[in-house]
Amino acid sequence: MVRINPSILAADFANFERELGRITTADLVHVDIMDNHFVPNLTFGPPMVDRLQQLSAIPLDVHLMIDDPDRWAPGYAELGAYSVTFHAEAAADPVKLARRLREIGARAGIALKPGTDAAAYVDLLPEFDQVLVMTVEPGFGGQSFMHDTMPKLRSLREAVDASGLDVWLQVDGGITEETIVIAAENGADTFVAGSSVFRGDPTDNIATLRAAAEGHTHE
Ligand code: DX5
Ligand code: ZN
Repeated sequence: MVRINPSILAADFANFERELGRITTADLVHVDIMDNHFVPNLTFGPPMVDRLQQLSAIPLDVHLMIDDPDRWAPGYAELGAYSVTFHAEAAADPVKLARRLREIGARAGIALKPGTDAAAYVDLLPEFDQVLVMTVEPGFGGQSFMHDTMPKLRSLREAVDASGLDVWLQVDGGITEETIVIAAENGADTFVAGSSVFRGDPTDNIATLRAAAEGHTHE
């Protein structure tokens, strides 16, 4: 199953209600939280997610690019986010945090920056509902897909398949009609796309991305 999650980092920040109305064919709405510490950029926090949660007919996929997720991530789950993904590099106790997120009722995700090895997390797969393989350095939209992250994605696909667990493998950054094919072939099933969804007609773009991924899902 292919999931297309548009990132509202590429939407018009002055009118999220209208922008949400342009992505009704999406599977989840990807919400990038940046704190100007874990990453240089700054977006928004819990009050905005609370409001998006009220406005969106589609569940929220919250991606926390913040320091100290151990302290802050549970609050996003409490707001009703469907999925909360925190960075491995920032969490003091990823397993404890994932268990807390699940206890609150969210799916728990762990994100890996391009330079972060997956090996340490393979044994922890049962604790997570999603692993996010960053395909750019987190912080900004509109960057180019990093092909050298694909061996890591493939190794995670093999580990997930071997485990028999239903852990989603998400990619985020530089996903286009071309790169989505590469990520799908290497085992991703959940695709975040900002620029390539919101530039032009989002409904057409989502359909194009979905068709490209569906034609190349990993076997
Ligand atoms: C980057 C964010 C991404 C970003 C992707 O740090 O996590 O979700 O919105 O944007 P594009 O698809 O433009 O690379
Ligand atoms: Zn993101």
